[in-house]
Amino acid sequence: MARLIDSGPGCPTPTPLRGASAAEARGLAYDEAVKAETDDLYPLVQDFITPMEWPAIAPFVAAINRLKAQKNAVILAHNYMTPDIFRLVGDFRGDSLQLAREASKVDADIIVQAGVHFMAETSKILAPEKTVLIPDTRAGCSLASSITGADVRLIKEKYPDYPVVTYVNTTADVKAECDITCTSSNAAQVVEAIAKEWNTDTVIMVPDQYLAKNVAAQTDIRIMTWPGACEVHEMFSADDVNQLREAHPGVVILAHPECPPDVLEAADYAGSTAALANYVSEKSPNKVVLLTECSMSDNVAAENPGVNFIRPCNLCPHMKRITLENIYDCLVNGEYEVTIPEDVRIRAKKALDAMMALPKMDKPLDFVTGLEPLELEMVG
Ligand code: 13P
Ligand code: SF4
Repeated sequence: MARLIDSGPGCPTPTPLRGASAAEARGLAYDEAVKAETDDLYPLVQDFITPMEWPAIAPFVAAINRLKAQKNAVILAHNYMTPDIFRLVGDFRGDSLQLAREASKVDADIIVQAGVHFMAETSKILAPEKTVLIPDTRAGCSLASSITGADVRLIKEKYPDYPVVTYVNTTADVKAECDITCTSSNAAQVVEAIAKEWNTDTVIMVPDQYLAKNVAAQTDIRIMTWPGACEVHEMFSADDVNQLREAHPGVVILAHPECPPDVLEAADYAGSTAALANYVSEKSPNKVVLLTECSMSDNVAAENPGVNFIRPCNLCPHMKRITLENIYDCLVNGEYEVTIPEDVRIRAKKALDAMMALPKMDKPLDFVTGLEPLELEMVG
């Protein structure tokens, strides 16, 4: 069951080291120089950070922005980062696909991935000449840990005639065994393109069973899948959608396609994190709820001040491992570097390149909602 209580702006993210002592311990202070550098940034986060908290946070923001310039580093910030990271130090922001595209072309020596480990691996696969750092190596993902390269080899042995599409939320080892990657922005496009290339009506899609079911409802291609799930999105249910509609009449309900299919059936709109953000900017609904990770609402709300957000706060514990403090430490110490054996990287890059080579869409694909859920055959 998802947490449905409206938590208001600024989710109660656990940041145990936050406070003046975290800055002091690193020799950082809220002095006149920091104040001058950060005063105009505070309005960007004033809905989430109180004036009392700001002197503990501003020194990190100033120091990170200085370190980035000194070291020719950029921060790629996923939509699920807290607003202090997303709005104040992130150089490129977006969904998995946007960040991957950025990694492949950004002009920098160092990429700091403000996201989870598979995202940092994707950056390293696409930009091997750059140093890719992740501030906390424990920032994993329940989807990425649900399948291994050995699992895919077994699937390939059993079903040699069907292409295997892997969601980008997987390790480099898994990507190396698959034919093409997809993200939630382009999944139906990828499935249809690879089916055509292989001249088949059946595609295997791993590891997210819910994304696979939601894509299957959008296409005539037969999809087989794997029993993986996102631990955040699998908590949402159609009952949650009904309760939200009852508690907040007129609310527009947007869902990420990692949610179970009955959620998409009941929702008003569905798509990747970028698609959800675009929907809010374009349609400016009066009242909206995003059935996805908690910080996303804060970040989209900050760009859309006229929209009233209901915020049932469901945190991704992995995304929340990334903090301003460990981003600072990561830039100072050059830790933790993401490395991938070259043979694995080259094979994983083939799967990513196959996706990147598809015609670039003007905007992320949305998912038709209101469709009856489909049951799919499992390959695992
Ligand atoms: P997006 O590609 O939609 O940003 O999703 C990534 C993710 O991890 C969602 O849980
Ligand atoms: Fe993985 Fe889910 Fe967290 Fe996204 S929200 S990183 S899919 S566990």
